[in-house]
Amino acid sequence: MSVSIDTGLDARSREDVAAGLSRLLADTYAVYLKTHGYHWNVRGPNFASLHALFMDQYTEMWNAIDDVAERIKALGATAPQGYRTFANLSGIQDGDPEQDAEGMLAELSKDHETLIRTARGVLPAAQAAGDEVTTSLLSDRLTAHEKHAWMLRASLGAR
Ligand SMILES: [Fe+2]
Repeated sequence: MSVSIDTGLDARSREDVAAGLSRLLADTYAVYLKTHGYHWNVRGPNFASLHALFMDQYTEMWNAIDDVAERIKALGATAPQGYRTFANLSGIQDGDPEQDAEGMLAELSKDHETLIRTARGVLPAAQAAGDEVTTSLLSDRLTAHEKHAWMLRASLGAR
């Protein structure tokens, strides 16, 4: 049975915003997965604090993934799923579990910057459509990733 959606957001706008959110979902999933891996494999004198920092960050992203996917559903689109589908949608590279802690921190801080640009790139479509809910979600994601990037940079002694 087909039920049409009439929320004041036209179908084309909903599709555009959902496509952008799908890229954000894939990038977020990739950085979630890498951060969880680094939580396991990080080594060195700062192990305990980095192990905990990575857990805080991957837990935050794990919760956000569901919000992003469910926003795609509320817009009437299919939420992407599966490693191969995510890999095709995301530009985030897999991490190297053998690299040292500083390498992990530097790489993750850059990955969060990529996520920030991905989220910011969806904003114009959401704003043009008058999609306040997606705009608010994107604002929350920008806030979270800018904070994650700062904490990773600070752990390297940088601003
Ligand atoms: Fe753990």
